[in-house]
Amino acid sequence: MTVAATDRLIRPHGGTLVDRTGERPEDLDALERFPLTLRELSDLDLIASGALSPLEGFMSHADYERVIEEMHLENGLPWALPVCLAVEEAPKGERVTLTDQEGRTFAVLEVEEVFEYDKEREAELCFRTTDDAHPGVARLYAQKQLYLAGRFTVFERPQPPFAELAFDPAETRRIFAERGWKRVVGFQTRNPIHRAHEYLTKVALETVDGLLVHPLVGETKADDVPVGVRVDCYRTLLDGYYPEDRVLLSAFPAAMRYAGPREAIWHAICRKNYGCSHFIVGRDHAGVGDYYGTYDAQLIFDEFEPHELDIEPMFFEHTFWCNVCGSMASTKSCPHGPEDRVHLSGTKVREMLGEGDVPPVEFTRPEVAQVLIHAYRK
Ligand code: ADX
Repeated sequence: MTVAATDRLIRPHGGTLVDRTGERPEDLDALERFPLTLRELSDLDLIASGALSPLEGFMSHADYERVIEEMHLENGLPWALPVCLAVEEAPKGERVTLTDQEGRTFAVLEVEEVFEYDKEREAELCFRTTDDAHPGVARLYAQKQLYLAGRFTVFERPQPPFAELAFDPAETRRIFAERGWKRVVGFQTRNPIHRAHEYLTKVALETVDGLLVHPLVGETKADDVPVGVRVDCYRTLLDGYYPEDRVLLSAFPAAMRYAGPREAIWHAICRKNYGCSHFIVGRDHAGVGDYYGTYDAQLIFDEFEPHELDIEPMFFEHTFWCNVCGSMASTKSCPHGPEDRVHLSGTKVREMLGEGDVPPVEFTRPEVAQVLIHAYRK
């Protein structure tokens, strides 16, 4: 692989792919230990691999302030969500060990500063609500009181949920380059893949070289479909309905924040680091309940200067199957009314699957339905 081949891809955010992996230090046992939540642990791993370039550690106070107020880092680069480590008390030493809840060690952090933060302010600015019924807000409210900032070095990577699908940004970039792709569209998802998702990804793929199907496999809320079931659905759909040489399935090891618009920006920047030049944003991207308007996650892209993000969002209207058109469509491409559309609520679909009934082919591919029925049958 020549350097020139990966050079044809979009540049990482900030210009250079960060690598925060390194050697296990000798004095590990002498350092104070700080346990990370699942969300913090997945952020740690994303930073280590360069997926959150240019971040090299948990955010400084200056970065945090500018991010929550202005959606930029202190150095002026766009950034939409805090990436912080919450702690009970300031550390005593200058270096600390980062562990998981079971005490397994992963990294050493060089303490830069410890600062106070206002949870309600962060909630309002980042989630647009202070309601603790919102899963992202609830997680924020449950956090410890102080933020600990500093660069870290990860000497052991957390175990990826699907090792065979775990490609770091350097690896996806290498694969894209090997396949001769330059324009690559990234697709974020946390749901089983239905006809609407298939439509968006295929319409997008028509205009670029390759598609990165990049399901989020980190922590999600309890009532989202379990990740193992979702991965079976992705594999099944890709095997049956996508050309192998145009699609890469890979796991995105982030936790969901359910921050809607701001998370769409954050998702796009991450995928830029993985080498995607384009990113799909459909209806209510990364939303939950009715906290966000259907297209808020698209409108937020207007808050940035043209080309500031570099990665190009591909916006999609709410898509559906139209019986008259006999195809997937949206109100942008179909003149028929709601009565001609196949509409099934999430509750209805879950009911059908629980009863072993296959939802209509206009809603989901039968092979995908079988995977879901197998998982949900009472
Ligand atoms: S998300 O939390 O990851 O956004 P989901 O997996 O449902 O949830 O959506 C993945 C992507 O597909 C998002 O960009 C979302 O906006 C888009 N999407 C899902 N369903 C539709 C639909 N019916 N019409 C248009 N876009 C959709």
